[in-house]
Amino acid sequence: MFRTAELLLLLLGLCGSLRAQLPSPPTVVINLDEEPELRWLALKKVFDVDYLTKAAAEIIEATVPKWVHHAAIPIVKSLEKYIPPPYAGEIRGLASVLGGNLSDAIILNFAYEFTAFCTSIVTQDKNGNVFHGRNLDYPHPVLRNMTMNLVFQKNGKAVYYGTSFAGYVGLWTGMSPNKFTISGDQRGTEHWWNWWKNVVSAFLFHRSPVSWLVRETLEEAEDFLDAVMRLSKTPLITGVYYIVGGVRAGEGVVITRDRKGPADIWPLEPLNGGWYRVETNFDHWLPPPASDHRRETANKALNATGQDHINMDKLYQVLSLHPICNRITIYTTVMSAASPGNYTTFIRPQGCFKTD
Ligand SMILES: *[C@@H]1O[C@H](CO)[C@@H](O)[C@H](O)[C@H]1NC(C)=O
Ligand SMILES: *[C@@H]1O[C@H](CO)[C@@H](O)[C@H](O)[C@H]1NC(C)=O
Ligand SMILES: *[C@@H]1O[C@H](CO)[C@@H](O)[C@H](O)[C@H]1NC(C)=O
Ligand SMILES: *[C@@H]1O[C@H](CO)[C@@H](O)[C@H](O)[C@H]1NC(C)=O
Repeated sequence: MFRTAELLLLLLGLCGSLRAQLPSPPTVVINLDEEPELRWLALKKVFDVDYLTKAAAEIIEATVPKWVHHAAIPIVKSLEKYIPPPYAGEIRGLASVLGGNLSDAIILNFAYEFTAFCTSIVTQDKNGNVFHGRNLDYPHPVLRNMTMNLVFQKNGKAVYYGTSFAGYVGLWTGMSPNKFTISGDQRGTEHWWNWWKNVVSAFLFHRSPVSWLVRETLEEAEDFLDAVMRLSKTPLITGVYYIVGGVRAGEGVVITRDRKGPADIWPLEPLNGGWYRVETNFDHWLPPPASDHRRETANKALNATGQDHINMDKLYQVLSLHPICNRITIYTTVMSAASPGNYTTFIRPQGCFKTD
């Protein structure tokens, strides 16, 4: 036991020194005062559009079975009129950036909805500072070149931040400065042959894609509690875990979502030793599959770090340990709503591998 803890501390130290070499993604400013159709033209300032177009086609090819893709095109075309604003306009704008294919732009925006594996951690130090970190895992290396930090502005002022992939209007990671931070982790596996059922039900029954609800919450919620309420009860097209961090002691929670509402709410309980919560892709009250050691590794590393020593750097180091960071990890974000200037994303150019 003792030896394991020492080894972990050693590893934590080693990983820290690698941090400086990791690239940060570009930042794209989205002006919400512009028409939805025009907002994402800002991508052209930062990305090579030909590269993005090819990459988007590759992702669809790799993610969506060909027959589903073909079968989907007429459905997708007729769906367009049901997509609510501002997303319909934004997706139309994106389609024009990505070579003009609207049905592909819509499919791309749902391709990520069902396949993101992740680890999120919310934690609190002895002084009540709340830190939130996440790894986003996705089995498609090209996404490392499409990752960007986003600043959403209104009246020339930053209103919320996020990290996402070029071509996508939703957010899986974001911060409302001085209010709260959110990350989303996939829950369960959805199959592509069901995707259109989910998408149709989304629009006909006014259910939200999980990443759109993150964005709306960042845009509209007043504070941590308001964010937790919205993320808990708004109907969704699929289950998900929402991890939320606030600005005050105790403001941290993992929300396990069913389509209709919350299945479980798991808050920080700093007075009872619950100074961190780790969520991967399994219900926290059940054991994860025997082959998946991410949760256990994170718990061990956080225990070895201790509440006395946790900070954004240490959280980053925990998220750098294999297998929490693994071969398909695309990026790591660490954030703290009370220190908005410290929002940081690192791309993992090669992912992470077992080191012993
Ligand atoms: C969009 O792409 C699909 C599949 O790649 C193709 O079948 C369709 O004709 C394209 N539509 C346009 C308008 O180019
Ligand atoms: C990402 O971009 C780099 C540099 O432009 C390139 O070398 C690499 O092949 C790209 N990766 C993928 C998966 O396209
Ligand atoms: C971490 O510490 C808590 C509280 O002491 C303990 O219940 C838990 O088993 C530990 N987890 C691991 C993986 O060491
Ligand atoms: C934010 O960054 C500044 C400058 O690097 C650092 O001094 C400060 O401790 C950081 N705050 C947190 C909460 O990590």
